[in-house]
Amino acid sequence: MPKPIRKAVLPVAGLGTRFLPATKAVPKEMLTIVDRPIIQYVVDEARAAGIEHIVFVTGRNKTVIADHFDRAYELEETLKRRNKEEALKLLETLRPNAGSTSFTRQQEPLGLGHAIWCARDIIGPEPFAILLPDMIIKSQTSCLKQMVDLYNDTGANIIAVEEVPEDQTHQYGIVELGDRISDRASKITGMVEKPAPGTAPSNLMITGRYILQPEIFDLLSRHEKGAGGEIQLTDSMLALMEDQDFASLRFEGRSYDCGSKAGFLSANIAYALEDTQLAEELLPLLHEMIKVPAAAAE
Ligand code: UTP
Repeated sequence: MPKPIRKAVLPVAGLGTRFLPATKAVPKEMLTIVDRPIIQYVVDEARAAGIEHIVFVTGRNKTVIADHFDRAYELEETLKRRNKEEALKLLETLRPNAGSTSFTRQQEPLGLGHAIWCARDIIGPEPFAILLPDMIIKSQTSCLKQMVDLYNDTGANIIAVEEVPEDQTHQYGIVELGDRISDRASKITGMVEKPAPGTAPSNLMITGRYILQPEIFDLLSRHEKGAGGEIQLTDSMLALMEDQDFASLRFEGRSYDCGSKAGFLSANIAYALEDTQLAEELLPLLHEMIKVPAAAAE
């Protein structure tokens, strides 16, 4: 059995420029999907995979993330006085245990690879998970849990992948596959960021969930700049692939890219429709809205 995956890094130091002005004072990760911030879904996914310690790599203006995962003393006392048992219970179940989160600052948004490198001392010499918090994965079983199961079977570095239409591969990081491991898993022989149209080695995009060995930190410490002048995680993963095995997992579920407006809004609709009572109120409104342009087009 390979070393267990106990820790996860959530990089939250990006500027979220695609959501300005909303993200001027509120971090992108705190925008809400129905009734909870995006980052709560990602922390829940990590905890459901057995993660014991979460490392947030933050930047300025992100202190509210630490507050969200802390005890809200005055609020909880007031809820107690008012006998709001259900709300109290909800806050309690969503809060990580004391001492199971760490916060470190990236200081400058030099790229995803640099953000991960900032967590090196807190992670130490053990394999760990990375969850990009602007990607929410809606699934029966936590996506990271599915990856941990594959990691326990193979001991490989694991990357979650999802099918995209062939004509969209140029927008994503795409993996090149080797031998099949199972129905949903294959060895990875290469990766390419945003391949030119028609040149993608597969139609499987990298989805923002990784399990990596700690040797990645040695490679990241070179601070080599890649695409866009940023320190890219993909470049160091490619270098690690020369010495270690990588496997892809086509997880069961689907992702919502909440870093884009369309992805964020569709996640809101998908999660809202899952709540029976909310769906009852929302569906007629959605039908009404959709009917308008259809009628106008006639
Ligand atoms: P993105 O580039 O998608 O996020 O990075 P962003 O920069 O916040 O958003 P836009 O493009 O300006 O709207 C993907 C993830 O990596 C983190 C981001 O917080 C996000 O979760 N990241 C990116 C860092 O933590 N540090 C960086 O230097 C870059």
